[in-house]
Amino acid sequence: MSEIRIRRVERRDLQACVALEERCYQPMEVAPPDFIERRIEVYPDGFYVAEVGSEIVGMINCGATHKDDITDEELKYLIGHVRNGKNGIVFSLAVDPRYRGNGIARKLMEKMIEVSGRKEKQKIILLCKDDLVDFYTALGFSYGGPSSSDFGGYVWHQMQYELPAPAWAVTSHHNSVSLSL
Ligand SMILES: CC(C)(COP(=O)(O)OP(=O)(O)OC[C@H]1O[C@@H](n2cnc3c(N)ncnc32)[C@H](O)[C@@H]1OP(=O)(O)O)[C@@H](O)C(=O)NCCC(=O)NCCS
Repeated sequence: MSEIRIRRVERRDLQACVALEERCYQPMEVAPPDFIERRIEVYPDGFYVAEVGSEIVGMINCGATHKDDITDEELKYLIGHVRNGKNGIVFSLAVDPRYRGNGIARKLMEKMIEVSGRKEKQKIILLCKDDLVDFYTALGFSYGGPSSSDFGGYVWHQMQYELPAPAWAVTSHHNSVSLSL
């Protein structure tokens, strides 16, 4: 397979991302085009695509929140999204069926972990169905318990990835300890 390139989304990617979303999810789970458009417009820093040649074959998109409970459906349209929120929330991680099993989802998530670390997020949180708990565990996530969401009549599980505390936080902690001695 040709080289996989991960890059930040651009406006011109809208139609390809909408088509990818429709190819990857069951109809009731598909985010409508205006949701994808809003995620690109409002928070492109949380939206990355995987390209093979000039074709978009994968994507990850996120929002941010100070909350730990991410069951609010409006968040998917970025209502309640707070750019500097302490947690990143993954809305969609999708890879074209023809390209699955090549590590593309892993690369997209690694990119999101790197970017979230630079933005000093505490956690990346997402909800998934039973069949993907092992998948997210393989990507380094831990199980956060069953979610209260019953979206689409399914059982959803919260998965979370804890990001390391930024260096300045560790340093200032040491400073405050030494000052108080
Ligand atoms: C889930 C999905 C994104 C995986 O994409 P992918 O590019 O094939 O995944 P990768 O090749 O990067 O796999 C990463 C790891 O997870 C494992 N894995 C992949 N799919 C898995 C699955 N369904 N269940 C358990 N493990 C899985 C792989 O073996 C791999 O492990 P390894 O690196 O130790 O070998 C893709 O199947 C998809 O788009 N599904 C439909 C959309 C969806 O449901 N997204 C998740 C929303 S919560």
